[in-house]
Amino acid sequence: MTKTAADARCKPTAQFRCIGCASSFTQAGTAFRCPACGDLLEIVYPHWDAQPRPHAFADVWLHRRASPLPLDQSGVWRFREILPQEIGEAEVVTLREGNTPLYPLPRCARAAGVEHLLAKHQGMNPTGSFKDTGMTVAASVARQHGFRWVACASTGNTSASMAAYAARAGMKSLVLVPQGKISWGKLSQALDYGAVTCELKTDFDGCMRVLNEVVERMPVYLLNSVNPYRIEGQKTAAFELMEQLSWQVPDHVIVPGGNLGNSSALGKAFFEMKHLGLVSRLPKISIIQAEGANPLVRTVRETAGKKLIAVHPETMASAIRIGNPASWEKAVRVLEATGGTVEQVSEAEIALAKAEIGADGIGCEPASAVTLAGLKKLVQQGFVKAKDSVVLILTGHLLKDPEFTLKFHRGDLFAAGDAQAADIAQAQRRPVVLEATAGAVIRTLEDADRCAGS
Ligand code: F0G
Repeated sequence: MTKTAADARCKPTAQFRCIGCASSFTQAGTAFRCPACGDLLEIVYPHWDAQPRPHAFADVWLHRRASPLPLDQSGVWRFREILPQEIGEAEVVTLREGNTPLYPLPRCARAAGVEHLLAKHQGMNPTGSFKDTGMTVAASVARQHGFRWVACASTGNTSASMAAYAARAGMKSLVLVPQGKISWGKLSQALDYGAVTCELKTDFDGCMRVLNEVVERMPVYLLNSVNPYRIEGQKTAAFELMEQLSWQVPDHVIVPGGNLGNSSALGKAFFEMKHLGLVSRLPKISIIQAEGANPLVRTVRETAGKKLIAVHPETMASAIRIGNPASWEKAVRVLEATGGTVEQVSEAEIALAKAEIGADGIGCEPASAVTLAGLKKLVQQGFVKAKDSVVLILTGHLLKDPEFTLKFHRGDLFAAGDAQAADIAQAQRRPVVLEATAGAVIRTLEDADRCAGS
């Protein structure tokens, strides 16, 4: 990788460290588990020093935005000083991921009861989800190691992303997804990018179990977020967020929780930014889950984060339909170190929040909308104050799950007597079927105008 002045000062020689027993390794096995205790590994940079001029990095990163080089155009690789240096420049597989927008959400802010609300829209990545930021790093490592096959278990977004990066790198990809439980948009992406796609008669946790056995028996490279290179890539979103905020730390960052890789990555980023001297404090990072897929919420509330309570997951937010999250210990550490909290939200709350984010002209998939639904509860509880600055991490694009959106607006998602039926009815925008005349359209326009004015 090309060296810069900032590189020379940082000397980031990466190591793997077990999050349980703290043993260190220079290499990781196929399952990315500690050979001593079986816990997950994380990548650490023992030679990183606090930087005398940390903002020298920030200047280099910003400067690269004007560069035409593929590595500099990537919103992941332009932060390469904080990534493992052993990945060769020629091996990098990039779709120009990252560089995602930070949008104000004025209507959602009013609905939640806060003055300052921003959304970092990770759904604006090349395959429509935050997974691309981690995939570019881990897929590059797979290519560098000469793997022909990469594989993942997925609720849809990881598989879409992996299939795309594998295709770009000339590698084959194997996707395991729960049959009938992922959105058509995501499934169609994996097929189009050429993945061998297996719909297994189980849930995500069952797919993960099968995949772990496959990677033990076959020379395929595991690209789930237990692969710590994924986490390294995903952490750049927080560096980019801070760049967009001129390095002024928000009071709260709110993120959806599924397998809990992303919350771990964002937390790790803030720990590293503080260590390097780029920020002086940490935001409170809070994690929101669907009520029907709430293992972290239960783990924190019922065991104080000491022992995972796995659940049988059920939610229409299919991306986070996960009951046995791999990275729960990393997520608990982030909650404890940042003073964040956990919350769970109902199906109706998720659907309403999604329509509200849509009405702000932004849109997202259901799993991302748990952030706004959770924020509303955290404001009601007084955990988030009206004047606090809040950033929601929107993880997936609106078009990832059009079926959910259509069913919601057509009134097919909830029954009339369900909780919040009145709010839901108000947020619905049904398509209307008309005769093909200007008069019919104009009457509809006038009706809509009267409703909006009333
Ligand atoms: N939001 C979306 C849109 C997701 O696709 C996921 C996870 C999450 C949130 C939760 O992130 O797992 O890091 O806590 N999707 C994975 C997948 C599991 O297979 O696509 P997490």
